[in-house]
Amino acid sequence: MHIEVNGLNKKFGEFQAVKDVSFEIEKGQLIGLLGPSGGGKTSILRMLAGLESVDDGDIVFHGKRVNDLPPQERGIGFVFQNYALFKHMTVEDNISFGLEVKKWTKAKIKARVAELVELTGLSGFEKRYPHQLSGGQRQRVAFARALAPEPQLLLLDEPFAAIDAKIRHELRSWLRDMIDRLGITSIFVTHDQDEAIEVADQIMIINKGRLEQKGTPWEIYKNPESPFVAGFIGESTIVDDVSSLKGFGHASDWPGTKALIRPEYVEVGKAADFELLSATEPGRVRHVHFRGSEWLVEVEVGTSRLVTYRSLEKEILHPGDEVQVLIHRAYLFNDNDSWVMENKLKEDPMPVHI
Ligand SMILES: Nc1ncnc2c1ncn2[C@@H]1O[C@H](COP(=O)(O)OP(=O)(O)OP(=O)(O)O)[C@@H](O)[C@H]1O
Ligand SMILES: [Mg+2]
Repeated sequence: MHIEVNGLNKKFGEFQAVKDVSFEIEKGQLIGLLGPSGGGKTSILRMLAGLESVDDGDIVFHGKRVNDLPPQERGIGFVFQNYALFKHMTVEDNISFGLEVKKWTKAKIKARVAELVELTGLSGFEKRYPHQLSGGQRQRVAFARALAPEPQLLLLDEPFAAIDAKIRHELRSWLRDMIDRLGITSIFVTHDQDEAIEVADQIMIINKGRLEQKGTPWEIYKNPESPFVAGFIGESTIVDDVSSLKGFGHASDWPGTKALIRPEYVEVGKAADFELLSATEPGRVRHVHFRGSEWLVEVEVGTSRLVTYRSLEKEILHPGDEVQVLIHRAYLFNDNDSWVMENKLKEDPMPVHI
């Protein structure tokens, strides 16, 4: 289903929870809604679903305005974090519940349940009760139940929040595969940026009721449009005055000198490793953390502490080591805007690698 939302607004009492949110979603896409707690993510989903009234704005499904359509007529399936299964019902009864409400025939229900049990990998568990399932299996039953009436849009509100890290990882890939296979337009809310980056076709960053940015995970990561987004996505350090760092003196001509620096734009090594010492800053290694596939190195440069990754094949650095630090790029920002800035002293775009 193609979805269009125009100028959506929602107040709870005097509090404006959703502010002028507009977006469009192509059929079959998986959208990740990402943002801090209280930002308005659930409120947006609930309005799409028809569980919350809209103060202002239009919700258009497939070219048709649905603001006044009751939830059951919107063709939506839900999975909520704590949308508990019916405890006294077996897996198959949970899945068929919505179909019985819709008065499907017995034969059709039986066939649909069998199809979903197969699809969600729950064969053999049909007669079990929720308490006889693992968290991951229960969540798959919740998916099957949401998908049973063949919705055109699937809304998932932190579906994996209550599940431990390993299973959560498996469920993510499983969800991605399933959505690809079904081609069903889906929106899923998460606090976890890795989760959003890994599974979503597009991410929408929601903060204080506003849609800050929408784009592919890579676009958002590479070109954050607001200071908030720059700080929210990825690991980074905020530097108060970037113009004091080598290669960034020209920042003093800009409206702000506060900057965000990402690990992948920081290179650290011994002096001999760099060709252009004119572009590097002296620093001292503070901490080195083993991250499984790489080192995470914290290095002190002046009063700032920068973070960078270092591959395992390279010479191991130790806390206290005197090093040189090359900062390739910084994201300058003030309250309203952000700018990407390259290191000006780095004439050679390909510095010798350490
Ligand atoms: N029914 C309600 N009545 C009053 N205020 C509400 C209601 N529902 C939500 N709010 C407020 O609206 C704001 C947005 O809430 P919402 O649940 O949409 O945030 P969220 O982004 O889903 O947060 P979280 O990540 O914690 O789930 C919050 O400040 C919340 O307290
Ligand atoms: Mg929420």
